Amino acid sequence: GYDATPFLPARGRIPAHRRAAADCRGCPLFGPATQTVFGEGDASARLMFVGEEPGDQEDRQGKPFVGPAGQLLHRAMEEAGLADEPSYVTNAVKHFKFELAPRTGKRRIHKPPSLREMTACRPWLSAELRLVEPEVVVALGATAGRALLGSSFRVTKDRGAVQACAVAADGTIGPVEPDAVPGDGTDHASDGHAGIRTQVVPTVHPSSVLRSDDREAAYAGLVADLRVAAGLVR
Ligand code: URA
Repeated sequence: GYDATPFLPARGRIPAHRRAAADCRGCPLFGPATQTVFGEGDASARLMFVGEEPGDQEDRQGKPFVGPAGQLLHRAMEEAGLADEPSYVTNAVKHFKFELAPRTGKRRIHKPPSLREMTACRPWLSAELRLVEPEVVVALGATAGRALLGSSFRVTKDRGAVQACAVAADGTIGPVEPDAVPGDGTDHASDGHAGIRTQVVPTVHPSSVLRSDDREAAYAGLVADLRVAAGLVR
């Protein structure tokens, strides 16, 4: 099956992983995409954001959340009091998946990643989580929520409620009872190869705010969930 594992470096921190991910061929998405979009930001941040996959702009520029959804996210972060909070920003899947617009074939239309593609790409996300060791992870949308909390995750039901997730040394990511989260110190190794636990704040994807019939309410909901995350990182 599709799997990024053979492309991961045996050692090294975020920069080594970013360099290796540039050559990932763990699933077919690398073919049509311009480049791998790895995580960016402060690799020792207490706060991490996980999106779905890069969009058109991210694919061109090679950085996560630099397009319209990213602009909205950054505005919402400021409004939630997170402007000065160091953060690391990444996606569950590191390549843009798209189809060409019917007829003209000009525009590249975003397609959500399949479960196989999410699974293939999970070793990268797992490594980022174990290396950054965030205390709080904001899961932006259903794909990120599923990547961190499993297939029973539902954004409408689960958004805004703090959960806990564990990342095991073997790369497994999944929900756990929210007892021994970082801050309790337990299970919080620092060499990037042991397991970690972190708090997860699930919320909507910023691009769903852009598509919403009631953009103001959807935006306010995103800001409210980000305030939950802001309360946890302090
Ligand atoms: N949407 C995402 O999920 N991630 C990005 O990086 C940009 C848009």
